[in-house]
Amino acid sequence: MKFRTNYFLILAFYFLQINAAYKPVVILHGILSGAESMVILVREIEERHPGTKVYNCDKFSGWSSLESAWRQVEEVRDYIDTIGKIHPEGIIVLGYSQGGLLARAAIQSLPNHNVKTFISLSSPQAGQFGTSFLHLIFPDLVAKTAYELFYSKVGQHTSVGNYWNDPHKYDMYLEYSVFLPIINNEIKNSNSTDFKSALIRLDQMILIGGPNDGVITPWESSHFAYYNGSLDVIPLSQREIYTTDAIGLKTLKENDKLKIIVKPFVHHLTWHTNRHVIREVILPYLN
Ligand SMILES: *[C@@H]1O[C@H](CO)[C@@H](O)[C@H](O)[C@H]1NC(C)=O
Ligand SMILES: *[C@@H]1O[C@H](CO)[C@@H](O)[C@H](O)[C@H]1NC(C)=O
Repeated sequence: MKFRTNYFLILAFYFLQINAAYKPVVILHGILSGAESMVILVREIEERHPGTKVYNCDKFSGWSSLESAWRQVEEVRDYIDTIGKIHPEGIIVLGYSQGGLLARAAIQSLPNHNVKTFISLSSPQAGQFGTSFLHLIFPDLVAKTAYELFYSKVGQHTSVGNYWNDPHKYDMYLEYSVFLPIINNEIKNSNSTDFKSALIRLDQMILIGGPNDGVITPWESSHFAYYNGSLDVIPLSQREIYTTDAIGLKTLKENDKLKIIVKPFVHHLTWHTNRHVIREVILPYLN
């Protein structure tokens, strides 16, 4: 009888340990896909980190992933908020591609969030200036003239228009884009202070990207680096968003909370499906 009691206690302790070891993970899918596209990643986390509670967000799948960024951010914000309240010990948020940009904006819109780690998996954090992934929707679109579509009232009804950042049309970007210059505090607004302090609340921000991505253009946008007017990529450390600490990236870096991962030989569509990549660049940060 005594043995059984002990055995039960050990088992109970074991499960509690497992649950205590790994924080819950919220996952956000990319554009023109849905939660099902993230299943390999979910399984890999559950197998390698048993006991992890994974929330695979199924909002804005397929075509609805093209809805305006703010509309999506508001729902994602509420989703993260709800899950955060279920797990007061803290949660991890991972967003892939467009999902990583929307997730970051959602976190920035939650002044009291309890997100401990945010992982951006090849997301256009500083914008996008390439159309390869858009040819399904806009077959004739070329980057050079896409601003005519995106920098308009109509174009701003799509998520892509909201983070389209044409380095030759920076003034138009500031004038028309209702999303990226706001969330990146390039245009100061009444929420700027909150956007910054919410990011500084993170324990870790992990930015993952690589030179063979093939979709995020420039690929360095995944690390908040971006083109200047002559298409030279300006590293994060020299960009205004960093030097002025506009959204807290400098503060995070100086406190050793910002990690930039450059991983070559990974195509955009395989970051979340290649088990080696998942094991190497994602799992180590899910604690
Ligand atoms: C600030 O955030 C609130 C709540 O999300 C929003 O209603 C308001 O429009 C935002 N203000 C600006 C200037 O973006
Ligand atoms: C872009 O950056 C490069 C390298 O720093 C510089 O030589 C070039 O003049 C810059 N172009 C513009 C338009 O600012």
